[in-house]
Amino acid sequence: MRLKDKVAIITGGGQGLGKEYAVTFCKEGAKVVIADINIDNAKEVEKTLIDMGGEALAVKVDVSKSDEVFMMAEKTVEKFGKIDVLVNNAAIYYGVAMKPFDTISEEEWERMFNVNVKGMWLCIKAAAPYMKQNGKGKIINISSGTWLMGIPMLLHYVTTKAAVVGMTRALSRELGEYGVCVNSISPGFTMTEASKTLPGRPPGLDEMMAQQTALGRNTEPTDLVGAAVFLASDASDFITGQMINVDGGCAMH
Ligand SMILES: NC(=O)c1ccc[n+]([C@@H]2O[C@H](COP(=O)([O-])OP(=O)(O)OC[C@H]3O[C@@H](n4cnc5c(N)ncnc54)[C@H](O)[C@@H]3O)[C@@H](O)[C@H]2O)c1
Repeated sequence: MRLKDKVAIITGGGQGLGKEYAVTFCKEGAKVVIADINIDNAKEVEKTLIDMGGEALAVKVDVSKSDEVFMMAEKTVEKFGKIDVLVNNAAIYYGVAMKPFDTISEEEWERMFNVNVKGMWLCIKAAAPYMKQNGKGKIINISSGTWLMGIPMLLHYVTTKAAVVGMTRALSRELGEYGVCVNSISPGFTMTEASKTLPGRPPGLDEMMAQQTALGRNTEPTDLVGAAVFLASDASDFITGQMINVDGGCAMH
């Protein structure tokens, strides 16, 4: 039980990788807040965790909306008394069409940045005061290997995921004096529903991506949880401002 009695908010916890983090954190003893724009999915995950004997709370939030994000933090503290861990996993990924950079509309570009970058900043703004109060906290920002690899045809998405790493590094220096660690995880091409159904994906994409890894296969959702638990746990108390690639040896930076 590496996260016993830790209170963890997982944004975008209703499906895919976020759900995987939620289930694993619960197994490790954390009290988990599943914060998602899709409340039906969040409630299903909440039920799963409670059925497992854990403690959980589903909260509806659009991370790009300041009032909803601050409400998410307040509800967490109301229910569980503190915030130890924030996993900034929510992002626009499911259903994003692969297409040339000059066919992305301004609206698509702005929405991508509002959720993937501004949303992350807002969640940190809302959770950090509670972490400062505790003199300790763990913030885990989910980036992506796409910007390390320079993956084409997803320019708005890829650019937001590079921004996540800049935010992680700068914030680790602002929050370090309060005992709050800020790190990021860069997953490789992971076999979630969103990846499997990516609109506009070229034929043979899975095989092509798998061939670029040292371990010879694409990432499975379960591959990510080890790094996430480590960065949320006391075992990583002296690690901040870092990025961990979990991609089977695809990007090597
Ligand atoms: N699957 C991959 O190959 C892969 C690779 C690298 C990084 N990632 C990153 O991992 C994370 C999860 O990936 P996934 O494959 O599970 O994606 P996904 O699209 O299936 O899940 C994203 C979750 O975020 C939620 N969400 C979307 N917009 C939101 C908003 N405005 N407010 C609150 N919640 C919102 C969705 O409802 C969903 O539950 C994302 O940050 C993604 O960019 C995924």
